[in-house]
Amino acid sequence: MMKNLDTILLAAMVTWASSAMADDGAILARGKHVFNQWCASCHGVGNHMAGTASLAAKYSGSIPAALEERTDLNPDFIRYFVRNGVLIMPAFRKTEVSDTDLAALAAYLSHPTK
Ligand code: HEC
Repeated sequence: MMKNLDTILLAAMVTWASSAMADDGAILARGKHVFNQWCASCHGVGNHMAGTASLAAKYSGSIPAALEERTDLNPDFIRYFVRNGVLIMPAFRKTEVSDTDLAALAAYLSHPTK
């Protein structure tokens, strides 16, 4: 009886862990899609991107200028700038970037390996 219970619990944990990983992957993929649609034109890797150039000047090389290369970003920081804007960066409305899309975008940019 105990043995059966252990087996069931183990199976449940394996199922839970793999579905959590699949969800995570789907969220990160969605976040990357949102980034490409709304952010990459200014924050892509390159010299002629308004956001990347501005952040290169702001941090003068102490951290990467391209958002996708940074490892210091957290979801609250991303959410703040997306909803409020800064300098020439517009604030994005919920009709453009929904809360669900923003959560995925924030998860993607905060993820250590993008
Ligand atoms: C029209 C160009 C433009 C677009 C589009 C844009 N940004 Fe920006 N973003 C900027 C500029 C310019 C800055 C200001 C950099 C500075 O402070 O010098 C900035 C700053 C930021 C910052 C603050 C970074 C820091 O360390 O100070 C974050 C976070 C950010 N943008 C995220 C995003 C995300 C996510 C999107 C897409 C939803 C986006 N931006 C779209 C131009 C843009």
